Amino acid sequence: MASATTYRKNYTAPTHWVDKVDLIFDLHPQRTRVRSTLTVRPNENRPNDDFLLNGRDLELISITVNNHELARTEYAILDSGDLLLHGISEPSTIKIENVINPTANTSLLGLYVSNNNFMTQCEAEGFRRITYYPDRPDVMAKFTVRINAPKSVCPVLLSNGNLVEEGEIDNNWHYTRWEDPFKKPAYLFALVAGDLKCREERFTLKNGKKALLQIWVEPRNLDKTEFALESLKKAIAWDEKRFGLELDLERFMIVATDDFTMGAMENKGLNIFNSRCILATPAVATDKDFARIESVIAHEYLHNWTGNRVTCRDWFQLTLKEGLTVFREQEFAADMLGDPTARAVKRIEDVRYLRDRQFAEDAGPMAHPIRPESYQEINNFYTTTVYEKGAEVIRMMQTLLGKEGFRRGLDQYIRLHDGSAATCDDFLDAMAKANMRDLSQFERWYSQAGTPHVLVETHWNPRAGSYTVTLTQSCAATPGQPKKEPFFIPFDIALINAKGNPIPLQLQAETAAKGTSRVLELTETQQSWTFINIREKPVPSLARNFSAPIIVDYDYTPDELVFLSQHDNDPFNRAEAMEKLSMLCIDEMVADFEHGTRM
Ligand code: SER
Ligand code: ZN
Repeated sequence: MASATTYRKNYTAPTHWVDKVDLIFDLHPQRTRVRSTLTVRPNENRPNDDFLLNGRDLELISITVNNHELARTEYAILDSGDLLLHGISEPSTIKIENVINPTANTSLLGLYVSNNNFMTQCEAEGFRRITYYPDRPDVMAKFTVRINAPKSVCPVLLSNGNLVEEGEIDNNWHYTRWEDPFKKPAYLFALVAGDLKCREERFTLKNGKKALLQIWVEPRNLDKTEFALESLKKAIAWDEKRFGLELDLERFMIVATDDFTMGAMENKGLNIFNSRCILATPAVATDKDFARIESVIAHEYLHNWTGNRVTCRDWFQLTLKEGLTVFREQEFAADMLGDPTARAVKRIEDVRYLRDRQFAEDAGPMAHPIRPESYQEINNFYTTTVYEKGAEVIRMMQTLLGKEGFRRGLDQYIRLHDGSAATCDDFLDAMAKANMRDLSQFERWYSQAGTPHVLVETHWNPRAGSYTVTLTQSCAATPGQPKKEPFFIPFDIALINAKGNPIPLQLQAETAAKGTSRVLELTETQQSWTFINIREKPVPSLARNFSAPIIVDYDYTPDELVFLSQHDNDPFNRAEAMEKLSMLCIDEMVADFEHGTRM
C-alpha cells in the first residue's frame, strides 16, 4: 500500500486529549486480550466531535462510551485500520476491548513474542498495534497497566513506572500492576514479560532518595550485566551534576534480550535493549565495546528528560530529542574520560563518524534537513542527519552561548516545557531568550540540508602588523533546495606564532586583546575580521574542535601542517593537521609511483 505523505506545515493539534489510560493485558502468544479505559476530553481549541483512534491489525471486540456499548453502526473502521468515533463532545470514558496476535506480529512494532518473551517497541507508531489510541506524541496521558499471565511461562511481568501491586490470580496465573506517575505519549509505553533474571541495586540519588535500579536479562546472561549497572549509575549521577536533572522514579529498569529488534529504546522507566548493546565481560568484550555500552546506556537514560519529560510535538521534531540526547551522551562520554587527550580522541571519533556517514548522506539523494518537511514513512528518518548532525547543531549552540549560557537555555527549556510536547523552535526560543540572543538565523540549520563549505583566505600585513581572515560560505544544492541562505556558523579560530604559542587576539575595533582563541560568527556569505598587533606571520588554527559541521577549505603548506601537528593547542586540530599531512605524503608517494611506472 502506498503511504500518504505527511507534511510538517499541516500540523494540527489533537481534537481530543487523553488524561488517563488504564490497560489490562491477558497475555497469550496468539490471542492477547487488551482492555483499555481512556479518560478523554475534547480539546476546547479545536471543537470537533469526531475522535480518531489509530489501529493496525487489531481484532475489535467491543467499544463502550460512557457505559453505552456502541452498535456497529455507531463507529467507523477506516481502510487504514483506524477507528473513528463520533459525537465525543464532552469529557468521556471510552472502554475498548480488542485481541492481538503477538506471535504473528512480524512488523517489529507493537507487542511481539520471541523465544517465549513478550516485549514491545512503540516508537514511532507501534502503540496502534496494541490497541486503538490517538497514537501521536502530542497526546500525553498517565498510564496504569495490569498484566495477567501464566506464571510458568512469564514469571516476570514489567511495565513503565512503579510497581503498585502484584499477586496470584489462581494456581497458574499471576499479575502485576504498574503506575507511571508521569504523563507520556504512547510511543514510550513498554511491556516485557518472560523468564528473566535481574541484577539490582538501591542507588542513592543526590536528593537523598533511593531508587531501585534493575538490569533484567535472560538467565544465562546475568553474569554480563555488572558493567551495564555501573554505567547506569554513572549516567544518573552525571545528569544530576551537569544539568541538575534527577531521576524522577522510585524504580528504573533496563531489559536486555537477544530478541529485541531495535538497538535500544528509552521507554519511561523501562528501557529495552538488544543484548549486544549492553552485555559485556572482560573475557568477551573490547575496550571499544565497553565504551559503546556506557554511551548507549547513558543515551537511553538521558532521554528521561530530553525526550520523555519533554517530548516531541510531532515526528518532524525527532531531532529535538535525538540530536539533543546524542549531544548529551557525547558530553557524558567525554566527562567520563576526563583527561583532555582522551576527550579529544572521543571528539575525533565522533567527527570521523559524522564525516563518513552524515556528510555522505548530506551529499547524496537522501539529503534532508535535521528537521524534515515531509515524510511518507517516519521510520526512514532515524538517520545520521537527525541524530549526529542534530547533535552538532546543539553543540554549536553551546559553542556560541558558552557552557553556562547553554545550561541557562536548557534550564529554561525544561522549565517551560516539562510535561508537554515541544518543537525545535521552542528549544531555540528558550536558548535565545535565556541568553538574550537572536538565534533566528541559526534556525536555518533546522531547515536547510547540505554540508556548507567555508573557504578561508588570510592576509598578513607586515607593515600594519595586522592579519585579516576572510571567510566565504557556500552550500551545494540538495534535493528540493536549489539555493541556500547563509548559515550561522560559529568558527573557532586561533593564530599560532613561530614559537608555537597562540597569540592574544584583538580585533581592530577592540581596545585590548581578549583570549587566545575566538569564535567568529559567520552569518553572511562573506565576512572579514582583522586582528591587530600581529607582528609575525602566524599559522591559523581553523574551526577548532570542529566548531561546526562544515568543510573548511584552506590550503596549508606541508611545513604549516608539520608545525600545527607539533604546536596547535587544540588537540582536535593537531590530529587534523597530522591526518592532512599523511594524506599529502600518500598523494606524493602515489604521484612518484605513477611517475616511476610511466618512465
Ligand atoms: N529512540 C531510540 C533511541 O534512543 C530509538 O531510535 O535512539
Ligand atoms: Zn535516542
